[in-house]
Amino acid sequence: MIKINCEHALGFLNREPDFNSAKGALDTLLTGSGVGSDFLGWVDLPFNYDKDEFNAIKACAKEIRENADILVVVGVGGSYLGARAAIEFLRQPQLRELKGGYPRIAFTGNGLNSEEMHLLIELLRGKSVYVNVISKSGTTFEPAIAFRLLRNYMEETYGKEEAARRIICTTDKEKGTLKNLADVEGYRTFVVPDDIGGRYSVLTPVGLLPIAASGMDIDAIMQGAKDCAEICKKNSLDNPALIYAATRQAIYNDLDKKIEILSCPAETTRFLSEWWKQLFAESEGKDGRGILPASCIYTKDLHSLGQYIQDGERIMFETWLLFENPLTNLVVPATDDNADGLNYIAGKSLFDIYDCAKKGALEAHVTGGVPCIEISAKDQSAHSLGELFYFFEMACGISGYMQGINPFDQPGVEEYKKNMFRLLGK
Ligand code: PA5
Repeated sequence: MIKINCEHALGFLNREPDFNSAKGALDTLLTGSGVGSDFLGWVDLPFNYDKDEFNAIKACAKEIRENADILVVVGVGGSYLGARAAIEFLRQPQLRELKGGYPRIAFTGNGLNSEEMHLLIELLRGKSVYVNVISKSGTTFEPAIAFRLLRNYMEETYGKEEAARRIICTTDKEKGTLKNLADVEGYRTFVVPDDIGGRYSVLTPVGLLPIAASGMDIDAIMQGAKDCAEICKKNSLDNPALIYAATRQAIYNDLDKKIEILSCPAETTRFLSEWWKQLFAESEGKDGRGILPASCIYTKDLHSLGQYIQDGERIMFETWLLFENPLTNLVVPATDDNADGLNYIAGKSLFDIYDCAKKGALEAHVTGGVPCIEISAKDQSAHSLGELFYFFEMACGISGYMQGINPFDQPGVEEYKKNMFRLLGK
């Protein structure tokens, strides 16, 4: 289960976090009485997801695994980050290299870079390719352009009929350009539920199809989310999401710390932090307020951003993502000559050495004036990942309502689009 330790944050505060306000926010969320309540489908999703659709996702994923060398996943924002976070968190790219047997998952449609797209298309030549294009609105510019290019490639390579068999659309059940295109061309479709916004959609077909196609265990992810939901829906101080939301809001309001750094222990957790950043930035950054989410990978970033965190402007607090148990236990060997002087740690595991680095850095950062929250999951497994997804979604919803904003819209995202479309002559 997700555990939270706020001991190294509470010491900075002159009063307790406002748990009553957090409880009120959770109540608003659970009763659907707040703004944005049309987008609360994620709250009970782990209990009542559509089992027929879940089985259809698994069947489609099996077909992809059996027939594809590469699955190209086209999407941006909430239609991209959750799947990538899961696939990297579960170390699919490395396991695929080592053991084979799974398709490569390539992500595109999340930018407008000609070189990246060109290289991807070159990489596809001579391989068996499936495409999963994901867009809830069905109109988002970046994935639409990428999909136009990929459709061309697929139809030229396989012919229209076979291309249609290899293209799968995840979109609205009835509206949007992508849905219309899928109907006209006969592409298979999976539905993004109306009541779940993009950044809360990782446990819908948006995330589940690419994750299952990668060979990772979506049953365990859903089970983790369900186990976590049982605790994170409790309106009591046993609820770690409630504690997290209340504590980060207290740090922001009472200490004026405007940046939250999610400090993660491995490269494989980088995209979980990217998913987390989008979740909190789009949910909370409103009305001239909100905590700016940032991230670090430790210990790598102790050799770059660490200097600023220790010694720069005192504008941030830190949330440490930790795992209680390693999945493997690599131990530093002893050597006869001790030429590198490391025999003093011979016999220690990398996990235990990381723990000392983490404890040392946390202590230093606290001494340097950085409030620290620790969030621990059991391990870096599919079950824990499901827990983390649900935990952060619930904490974000509570936090947004505590801040008095709608955590389920993103009006600010439209501004750049207006300018871009004007410049493009739309
Ligand atoms: O959280 C959100 O709603 C956004 O980040 C969307 O996921 C993102 O803009 C992509 O939208 P769509 O799935 O409609 O293409």
